[in-house]
Amino acid sequence: MEDNGTYKILFVCLGNICRSPAAEGVMKHIVKQHQQQERFYIDSAGTYGGHAGELPDPRMRRAAARRGYLLEHKAQRFREAMFAQYDLIVAMDDNNYYDLEAMAATIEDEKKLVRMADYCRHYAVTHIPDPYYEGADGFEHVLNLLEDACEGLFESIKQ
Ligand code: 4NP
Repeated sequence: MEDNGTYKILFVCLGNICRSPAAEGVMKHIVKQHQQQERFYIDSAGTYGGHAGELPDPRMRRAAARRGYLLEHKAQRFREAMFAQYDLIVAMDDNNYYDLEAMAATIEDEKKLVRMADYCRHYAVTHIPDPYYEGADGFEHVLNLLEDACEGLFESIKQ
């Protein structure tokens, strides 16, 4: 559902403090590089609301900043109404996907739901792993996957 020609993308993970705000930051960066900011609205949310209002995890913010991404998103819980508000809802892993699928009220809602890993072109992965309980390498790996997937996603929707 596009209005005013704006294509709306929502990235979703569990806590909305690691993977999905990083995906939001990477995607905004790519869109800006292509001077397409007016055409896209990009946001993120989590299926779990326990971190609502928080900035992304400091480990992710540091890792992202080293690559030039400023992550300023404040965590928010995914709400059912977001299905109607967005054109594409991008789940980071299968748990996120199934949680979202369970909240989809219509076939139209379900059609908007996709997996982030399916857009990776260089990494053969099925999901974006949760780095929350991992060391620093986990955050670098997630950023590598997200950069790959966001490039693939941009190519698929830029027209
Ligand atoms: P995210 O990582 O889903 O990538 O934001 C997590 C952040 C927090 C928790 C789990 C995953 N948590 O359980 O608090």
